[in-house]
Amino acid sequence: MKNFKDSFADVLFEALDGHLDKQKISLMIEKPKFEHMGDLAFPCYELAKILRKSPQGIAADLAGKIGSPFFEKIEAAGGYLNAFLEKATVSASVIQQVLTEKETYGDANLGNGQAITIDLSSPNIAKPFSMGHLRSTVIGNALALISEKCGYRAVRINHLGDWGTQFGKLIVAYKLWGNEEKVKQQPIKELLKLYVQFHEEAEANPELEDMGRQWFKKLEDGDGEALSLWKWFREESLKEFSKIYDLLGIRFDSTNGEAFYNDKMDRVVELLKEKKLLIKSDGAQVVQLEDLPPCLIKKKDGTTLYATRDLAAAIYRHETYGSVQSLYVVGNEQSLHFKQLFSVLEKMGFTWAGGLVHIPFGMMLKDGKKMSTRKGKVVLLEEVLHEAISLALEDILKKNPNLPAKEEVARQVGTGAVIFHDLKNFRMNDIEFSLEDMLRFEGETGPYVQYTHARASSLLRKGKFAESSGDIQIGDPEAWPVVTTLMAFPEAVKRAFAEYDPSQIAKYVIELSRAFNKYYASVRFLEESSQKQARLSLVYSVTIVLKEGLRLLGIQAPEEM
Ligand code: ARG
Repeated sequence: MKNFKDSFADVLFEALDGHLDKQKISLMIEKPKFEHMGDLAFPCYELAKILRKSPQGIAADLAGKIGSPFFEKIEAAGGYLNAFLEKATVSASVIQQVLTEKETYGDANLGNGQAITIDLSSPNIAKPFSMGHLRSTVIGNALALISEKCGYRAVRINHLGDWGTQFGKLIVAYKLWGNEEKVKQQPIKELLKLYVQFHEEAEANPELEDMGRQWFKKLEDGDGEALSLWKWFREESLKEFSKIYDLLGIRFDSTNGEAFYNDKMDRVVELLKEKKLLIKSDGAQVVQLEDLPPCLIKKKDGTTLYATRDLAAAIYRHETYGSVQSLYVVGNEQSLHFKQLFSVLEKMGFTWAGGLVHIPFGMMLKDGKKMSTRKGKVVLLEEVLHEAISLALEDILKKNPNLPAKEEVARQVGTGAVIFHDLKNFRMNDIEFSLEDMLRFEGETGPYVQYTHARASSLLRKGKFAESSGDIQIGDPEAWPVVTTLMAFPEAVKRAFAEYDPSQIAKYVIELSRAFNKYYASVRFLEESSQKQARLSLVYSVTIVLKEGLRLLGIQAPEEM
C-alpha cells in the first residue's frame, strides 16, 4: 500500500539531510487534532536543539523545500509542519487498493506461517460454562483470527478442566444419588446438583470425603468403572458446551484438557529433578522462585496439581506445534499461577518460555457485582445467548418481516451483539452485562456496525453496482473521513495484534461506521451522476472492510437485516 505517512517521512528525511533517521521521523509524525490542520503533522521542537534554530524557523524552511504528488500542500504552522493530502488522488489510490485486495486488505505478514497456540475457553467439566469462560472464548477467538491476519498459524486449544479430586466426589455422588436419564437430559445441571449435594451431605458425613478421595485414586490408577463414568461425564459436558460453541461459530484445533497430560507429568518431574530444581517442603515437592511464592509440583500424597499439568502442557505444545508464541487467555485472578508457570519454565532453561504470554481480562458484572455461578445464582450462558437471539428476531419481525433466512440473521445479530459488547472495551476493564445495551442499533454496538454494513450493501444492490476500472476519483468532501478511516485499517490490525487487544478492531469498525453514516446522510448515491460509480466504489470498499473487521472479532455481517 502507498502508506502516506511513509511518503511524508520519505520527503522529510530527504529534506533533513540525515539529521534524523527515517524510523525516528515516522514515529514523530502525528495526526493533527483538527481537520483544518491537515492530515499529518511533524513537530519541529526536537530538531531545534540539533539544528540550533527555532522550531518555527525550521518548519518554515521545510515547508519551502518539500513537495509530493500525494500532498496538496505542506505548510508551516508555528513549530509544526502540517501536510494536507491530495484528496482526489489519495482517495482513488485507497479505493483501488481495497477493491484489488478485497478481504486480504490489511493482511500483514509478520508471522511467516509460524504457529501461535492460543489457550482459550477451557471450561471445567460437569460445571456450568461461566461468564469468564465466555470472555476467554470470545477474546481468544478474536486473537486467533487477528494473528492469522498477521500471517501466523493459530492453534486454538481448549484446555478443558477435566481432571482433579472433584471427579472422585462426583463419581461417589452419582453412584449414591444419580440417575442416568436425568444426566443425559441436562448434564451440567444434573452433575452440578450432585456435586452440591455431595458437599452438603459431607458436612454431616465426613466419610464421603474419604470415599471421594478413594474414587479419585481409582480414577488415577485407571480403574475401569471410574474411567468409564469420568469419560461419560466428560462427553456429556462437552456436548453441552458445544451448543455454545456452535451458536458462536467457534471451533478448536484441540480439546486436550488437563487429563491428557496425566502420562506426561513424570517426565516433567524427572526434568525438574535433573536440573535440581525440585525441593522438599513439608513433604510436598516445590520449585523455589525468586520473587514469587514457590510453585507446588506434587502434594504430600504424591498427586499432581493444576500447575504440574500446565508445565507438561506447555512443553507438549512447544514440541507438537513448534509455537513461537503461546497465549493463555485466562481471567486476571490466575495471574500469579501464570507468573509461576512461566518462571519455572525459564528456570528449566527453555528459551521459548519467553514467548509465553498470559492474556488476562476483567470480570463480567451484573448491577455492579460479579456474575457468579455459585449456588442458586447460576447464569446459564446458553440461555443468555438464546435470549439475545430471540430479541434480535423480534426486532427483525418488526422492521423487516419479509427478510429471507430470518433465523440465521437473528443468530448472527444476537451473538454478534454479545461478542461485540465484550470486545469493544480494553479486555482488562470489567463489563456490565446488559442485553438491552448490547442489542441497541445505535451507539457502540455490534448490531450498529452490522446494520451499517447491511445498509451499505443494500445501496450497492439498489444502485446495481458492478465493479469497473472506471473513474474512482471522488469529489465529495464528506467522503474524505471515510477514506482516511479506510486507510487506517492495516495499522489497526497490527496494533490489535501487537497489544493483544481486539478492542482496537472494535473501535475501528465503529469509527468507520460513523464516518460512513455521516457520508450516507450527505449524498444521494443512487442519483445518476458522473460521481455515481466512484461513490459506489467507496461504498463497496466500506462493506469489504466492515465485514473483514467484524470477521476478525468473530462476528458475521449479514447482507440484509
Ligand atoms: N479450567 C480453568 C478454569 O476454569 C482454566 C484453564 C486455563 N488454561 C490453562 N492452561 N491453565 O479456571
